Amino acid sequence: MKFFELEGGARWPALGLGTWKSAPGEVANAIAEAIEIGYRHFDCSPIYGNEPEIGQALSTAMDSGALKREEFWVTSKLWNSDHLRGDVVPALKRTLADLRLDYLDLYLVHWPVAHRPGVGFPESPEEFLSPDDAPIAATWAGMEEALNAGLCKHIGVSNFSRKKIEALLQSAKMRPVANQVECHPFLAQRGLLDYCNEQNIVLTAYSPLGSKDRPDFVKHDDEPGLLDSPVILDIADKHGFTAGQVILAWALQRNTSVIPKSTNPGRLRENFAAAQITLDDGDMVAIDGMDRHYRFVDGTFWCPEGSPYTLENLWDE
Ligand code: A2P
Repeated sequence: MKFFELEGGARWPALGLGTWKSAPGEVANAIAEAIEIGYRHFDCSPIYGNEPEIGQALSTAMDSGALKREEFWVTSKLWNSDHLRGDVVPALKRTLADLRLDYLDLYLVHWPVAHRPGVGFPESPEEFLSPDDAPIAATWAGMEEALNAGLCKHIGVSNFSRKKIEALLQSAKMRPVANQVECHPFLAQRGLLDYCNEQNIVLTAYSPLGSKDRPDFVKHDDEPGLLDSPVILDIADKHGFTAGQVILAWALQRNTSVIPKSTNPGRLRENFAAAQITLDDGDMVAIDGMDRHYRFVDGTFWCPEGSPYTLENLWDE
């Protein structure tokens, strides 16, 4: 397994298990199975609705002696309804209680989008808070308080453009160690990855396999097929790998962290084995050539008529 070595000495396993869309009732088994296979990085968020069950599975593993806390990495995220500075630490404490942990390895600002306190998903434009009402700089100050209180070891962001990271760095006392964004062969994020590498920020790739199990409100009819794209299938065929393994190996080989979701024991194993695979230069070039700047999670759900957020000011593109 490849690790990112962070300032301060932490070692962060590059391949982790995503838990978005892992249903309660399934996720505990998936975590237990993943631990058995060797996964030591778990990516969570309270908005996924499954942190209590993940906490149960992690504590079962720790109680049985199979796993010590310092042997695994847990990331979770601050939801959009908790962006006001004073709400950050209480939100993190709720997540820690659900996950049954004393600290997180990494806490991320989930989106550069704020809702009124208590609003999980806005149903009207008034339920958003604008960047003036809830400036990211103040949210970040709350993240720094969480770090200083020892509730998390590192802090970072998610769904942030280069422009938003640059703005954050103007006022930040502590730097983000990670930016988690959608990233796969159809959305290679080359410019953002180069910038993150320069800045010593790990880019974590979410929806690396195209998240086919997304809820309908995050789907479009005319989506391109990632796992069945001919370039991927040819490379898979040539080496005797699966399509998923080819995509994950590409992600790891280009220096991103990657968090495929699965609750299926066979695919959990298959995905973990991708960390042992090496693609040749020709494979990497061919996959790089698939980039078409296509977002499966395009953010339109934050941009209804009247919202302070537009696709333009969300992605800065
Ligand atoms: P399942 O949980 O049944 O394995 P993403 O990580 O991009 O969000 O994609 C997750 C989706 O891809 C889920 O539907 C998951 O289903 C499926 N999946 C996970 N691993 C693989 C794989 N190796 N090959 C094909 N589909 C996969």
